[in-house]
Amino acid sequence: MDLQAGRFVDLHNHVVPGVDGGSPSLVETIRSLRAFRSEGVGVVAVTPHLDPARHAGTWALRRRLDELQASYEMVCDAAAGRLHMPALTFSQEVHARDADAVRRVVEDPRVGVGGGRFVLVEFDAELAGEPLKTIRTVRAAGREILVAHPERYHFPWSPDPLDTLRRWVDAGAWLQVSLGSLTDGGGPYGEGAERLAWSLLGEGMVHALASDHLGGARPQILHRAVARRLAAHGGGAQALQLLAGNPRRIVGDRLPEPVPPLRAAVPA
Ligand SMILES: [Fe+2]
Repeated sequence: MDLQAGRFVDLHNHVVPGVDGGSPSLVETIRSLRAFRSEGVGVVAVTPHLDPARHAGTWALRRRLDELQASYEMVCDAAAGRLHMPALTFSQEVHARDADAVRRVVEDPRVGVGGGRFVLVEFDAELAGEPLKTIRTVRAAGREILVAHPERYHFPWSPDPLDTLRRWVDAGAWLQVSLGSLTDGGGPYGEGAERLAWSLLGEGMVHALASDHLGGARPQILHRAVARRLAAHGGGAQALQLLAGNPRRIVGDRLPEPVPPLRAAVPA
């Protein structure tokens, strides 16, 4: 497989310093960006957390977005002129506790991947707050919804998580799986996440892969390692689509292309 430098695009990470649980400092941010570039990532869409429930009212929400954008611009200034840096674009990871919270957020044109239609959304870990209703609300607002790490939720009421996730996709959601879930044993997310991630690949229901890199506390810049692992299981073409082609389309405000099912057992 051609792992040409700069081909990959990372859509989900926490490298903006001091604004969420990710990078604690600009020094670590620059170190992480350099690591992304070494891993073959040419474009990083930064996705600091945006939790509308913590910023009640339009003014408070705007102020939080101002804060995130100012920190992002500081990173851009620090990266400018340095060698071995990926290109950067501004985005957010929206914590959707319920549909009402997210309805407020998607009205702001600054919210979205690279200023486009796509919104990266994370649900409550236990899936409180009716995710399906949230998906429909985002779609009704004329936006595309990219659901973060579907393989990592707990699915408390669903005997088969794939059924639930299929309903999300049927309602118009796109699914972004974490790279760590596709490493041996699911990395920090465990074997349950690993099994579900491979099942989703088997159904052709993964639309993009991304790091969700959380700084030194949870380093997840694993693009080449995961590309090689998928290729070793007959998924070289899927790896390129999921790490390069589709993320690049999303950053460019274009819909992902269908990804052929990868019929491989969970690697032992
Ligand atoms: Fe995240």
